[in-house]
Amino acid sequence: MKVGDQHYHTIWLNDDNKSVDIIDQRWLPHEFRVVTLRTIDDVAAAIREMWVRGAPLIGVTAAYGVAIAMQDDSSDAALDVVWEQLHETRPTAINLKWALDEMRGLLRPLPPGERSAAAYKRAAEIAQEDVELNRRIGLNGLKIIREIAARKKPGERVNILTHCNAGWLATVDYGTATAPIYLAAEEGIPIHVYVDETRPRNQGAQLTAWELDGHGVPHTLIVDNAGGHLMQHGQVDMVIVGTDRTTANGDVCNKIGTYLKALAAKDNNVPFYVALPSPTIDWAVRDGVKEIPIEERNGDEVSLVQGRGEDGKITRVRISPEGSPAANPAFDVTPARLITGLITERGIAEASAAGLKSLFPERT
Ligand code: MRU
Repeated sequence: MKVGDQHYHTIWLNDDNKSVDIIDQRWLPHEFRVVTLRTIDDVAAAIREMWVRGAPLIGVTAAYGVAIAMQDDSSDAALDVVWEQLHETRPTAINLKWALDEMRGLLRPLPPGERSAAAYKRAAEIAQEDVELNRRIGLNGLKIIREIAARKKPGERVNILTHCNAGWLATVDYGTATAPIYLAAEEGIPIHVYVDETRPRNQGAQLTAWELDGHGVPHTLIVDNAGGHLMQHGQVDMVIVGTDRTTANGDVCNKIGTYLKALAAKDNNVPFYVALPSPTIDWAVRDGVKEIPIEERNGDEVSLVQGRGEDGKITRVRISPEGSPAANPAFDVTPARLITGLITERGIAEASAAGLKSLFPERT
């Protein structure tokens, strides 16, 4: 997508053909910075500290991390070490394990001398595949938006609510939840997006709002608690969110707060869709609430809020007493029964084992 007049991906191979450049998301929306990851420790820090974030982008970054590791040491032992080191950076997004398994599965049978080149090639392919998956999710999700628009009076806008950032910044390009939104806007459908700020890290306020603003998509930032009220008053036509891990039964793990939006949507008959590329499906897990590990992040992310001060500098301010501990579960699970449909690259599935099997018969 575009930043100013320039087309960007969120991650790309540096001109030295070894290091990897990323958009450093810690400073958005106030400063656009690109940072170069040269070592495996850089890659681990970038994922853990959320310089990059979003399940698909975490996976792609990890794939490049394996490639970076292989240029120094392409032994079996090094392959296992990098797998472990990157796997423990963030526990919930399954794309991370998917990408690490994909890389190790490809490289292990190769002679060590061939592994580095093969790793860079496959990492670039995974990045490109992500772009294509999201483009197709966009086309499938667009059909739903068109149907809603067709039921509206001429010129009346389609109101979509989204949570966290499942936009192009969370992927390599297009985004998952935002791909149908961008396509609908391009097609001239009058669209408007309610953007949940998404405490504690404010991915909605800092990233989704920045993206939509940059692409001229009408949007309004709301506090996380406003969604239920808007739905009760008929101001939301549909919800689209992303996911960090979807189970074989269609339960959806996503940013904390997603579950409450799904409950409110159910109570108000607002369709609740989840956009996801197939690497986000964890076919080994059925009951999301019981089986998905939920990342617990530092309580400082709750107690301290980052923004730009009046002096123009990016700063963090404390909003609670020094002595009050804070809990910070980063994700929650929305049971399949609350979900209207899963928008994948192969089409829209019912959120159920049967629905997913119908689109991915090879996984049965
Ligand atoms: O903690 P984050 O910012 O990595 O969480 C991101 C989300 O929860 C996204 O909604 C999810 O990864 C889907 S991104 C297409």
